[in-house]
Amino acid sequence: MPGALQRPALVSRVSELVGYTPLLELARTVTGSRLLLKLEMFNPTGTAKIRMARAMVDAAEAAGELRPGGRIVESTSGNTGLGLAVIAAERGYAFTAVVDHHACPDKLRGMRALGTELVYVVDDGGGELATAAREELAGDMARGRDDTVFTEQHNNPANGVGYFPVAHELHEALGGRIDVLIGAVGTGGALCGTGRELGKLMSGFTVIGVEPKGSIAFGGPAHDYHQSGTGTPEGAGIGALVDFDLIDEGVKVGDVEAFATCRAVARTGLLIGGSAGGVVHEALTRLPSLPPGTTVVALVNDGGEKYMDTVFDDDWMRARGLLDPEAEGEIEELLTTLRGNR
Ligand SMILES: Cc1ncc(COP(=O)(O)O)c(C=O)c1O
Repeated sequence: MPGALQRPALVSRVSELVGYTPLLELARTVTGSRLLLKLEMFNPTGTAKIRMARAMVDAAEAAGELRPGGRIVESTSGNTGLGLAVIAAERGYAFTAVVDHHACPDKLRGMRALGTELVYVVDDGGGELATAAREELAGDMARGRDDTVFTEQHNNPANGVGYFPVAHELHEALGGRIDVLIGAVGTGGALCGTGRELGKLMSGFTVIGVEPKGSIAFGGPAHDYHQSGTGTPEGAGIGALVDFDLIDEGVKVGDVEAFATCRAVARTGLLIGGSAGGVVHEALTRLPSLPPGTTVVALVNDGGEKYMDTVFDDDWMRARGLLDPEAEGEIEELLTTLRGNR
């Protein structure tokens, strides 16, 4: 019998298409351990973040902070902005995204196409990750204006709440057979929101958070990184939603490994984004040493289509010292072996 949590066949608003994303078994060991990917790129905008964008707008409306004709302001590396752009367009709000030149160009183009006003915080084309400065400017733009709401994703409880449905979707699909939940940690909304709600539905699973090497939530040293939309760069505050009590283990994956994984996974027919590459790298390399029959669920926050000019561009990769055919070959080999067991 089909489950209750299925995408409706006919809808009248784009936001009704959010959720109900599929699971893909990427790999399996001879001992029956399996890696399942929760493919959040099947949401409108191609990313998980529209789940929290909708929840943050719902919360602002319920609190009476956002009224007809109002404006939403958010600091975003792109995916949150795409989600807010859709919800704002649907509900008749103006939306200003405060961005930096580190953002993926396709995400910026997408927001603009959806009617978003883009404000660059560092307008020198230098490409720095400027999370702290972005947040400061977004706060300044909303301060003292009762027609404008800064949704403040790093500190907004609705960010976590937006992912509660992910837990229900996983629980319904897998009947509580989840041993490990692994995902990227930026604001912490996706992994901790999902993990917290899943903990109400079942017990006995481990939560693993993944951030890029260079990000500071799970310790130093801090340096720049290229995995887009994830992690906490130096100077930015660790988000209030990063729940260190819930996360059993925090690990760091470098850009080289993360991107090599994206490129190897692509040869199985699936395009995943850079942060998901880090998550899948960690999950995949652990899988063979896990107890027999372990089910690992990895949250894939976005697809690879937005990264054709970066992760999937040899020249861009080479110019940054990130192209590593050997690392790619190792993951490809591991994938080939593990996929043969499915
Ligand atoms: C591609 C991608 N990966 C990972 C994350 C991190 O998710 P969260 O902020 O919920 O921790 C984001 C958030 O914007 C993202 O866009």
